[in-house]
Amino acid sequence: MQEELEQVGRQALEEISRAKNDSELEEARIHFLGRKGKITLLLRSLGSLSVQDRPAIGRLANQVKAKVEKALVERRQALGSQVQEAAPSLDITLPGRRRWIGRLHPLTQVTQEIVEIFTALGFQVARGPEVETEYYNFEALNFPKDHPARDMQDTYYLADDVVLRTHTSPVQIRVMESQRPPIRVVMPGRVYRNEEINPRSFTVFYQIEGLYVDRHVTFGDLKGVLAAFVERFFGPKTPLRFRPSFFPFTEPSAEVDIACIICGGKGCRLCKYKGWLEILGAGMVDPAVFTYVNYDPEEVSGYAFGMGVDRIAMLRHGIDDIRLFYENDLRFLQQF
Ligand code: PHE
Repeated sequence: MQEELEQVGRQALEEISRAKNDSELEEARIHFLGRKGKITLLLRSLGSLSVQDRPAIGRLANQVKAKVEKALVERRQALGSQVQEAAPSLDITLPGRRRWIGRLHPLTQVTQEIVEIFTALGFQVARGPEVETEYYNFEALNFPKDHPARDMQDTYYLADDVVLRTHTSPVQIRVMESQRPPIRVVMPGRVYRNEEINPRSFTVFYQIEGLYVDRHVTFGDLKGVLAAFVERFFGPKTPLRFRPSFFPFTEPSAEVDIACIICGGKGCRLCKYKGWLEILGAGMVDPAVFTYVNYDPEEVSGYAFGMGVDRIAMLRHGIDDIRLFYENDLRFLQQF
């Protein structure tokens, strides 16, 4: 019995070491340790031994079994590591996988940059709703009912009296209603107009409104603050000019141009050979607007301005189609 055990043990170890793959190894295991395996059967026959022989042979049988089990485990590991070695090893010359990192939209970046310039000049930030009443979008801004000026901005109506705001100017009214002068605020936000869609105009765009109301505010203050803004945003020696214009809520009104950032004023395709680019509308707050918010036009005066963020972002980045801002094509957005 003892000899038989030792011999079966040797056979098992040999067969295990000869196994070239997992299935051969499994065969060997079944052959010796399976339900009808040679070692299993020997262990089962221990019961027939005499009481004297049983302990020593039993111990030997368990040792053989343990050895074979250990050999199986080791062989399995050895085969496994061979499989791994056969696979291609790590190629550290491969370029790394690119991580997709989010970033702020170019319009958000330009908005933040502009707002920061004004907050450094003492302005606070205010916001208002994109869904507005006709009262805030038009009436309190001195657009009389049925006045053709309302047609200047093709308006989306959501209901009678309810519109998608066509500009950020209604936020002026909301701020003046809730605060007393001195007021110095910038009001960024999204606006909507039912305009023809083309490279220059879209149905949605962004504006930044500015408002300063205090005693003795003058047109000179307006020029000063806008000159400071243009210098900081477009660079120190950027010329600007004020052109007379009309808005119902400012008097006098002006449109502000900067010298073309491409040709410097000589004339090119970007400025349509005018040498100038319009960047904003502005003016002194019309006294009629003050009466809507119960300010005394004899006591206070103010200026307001409103600029198109998209337009300014297009100039800053040399973008020739406003629609790119709204398509969210990653190839475009990744560049900012
Ligand atoms: N709200 C005007 C527009 O959208 C711009 C503007 C704002 C003009 C403030 C004057 C003062 O065209």
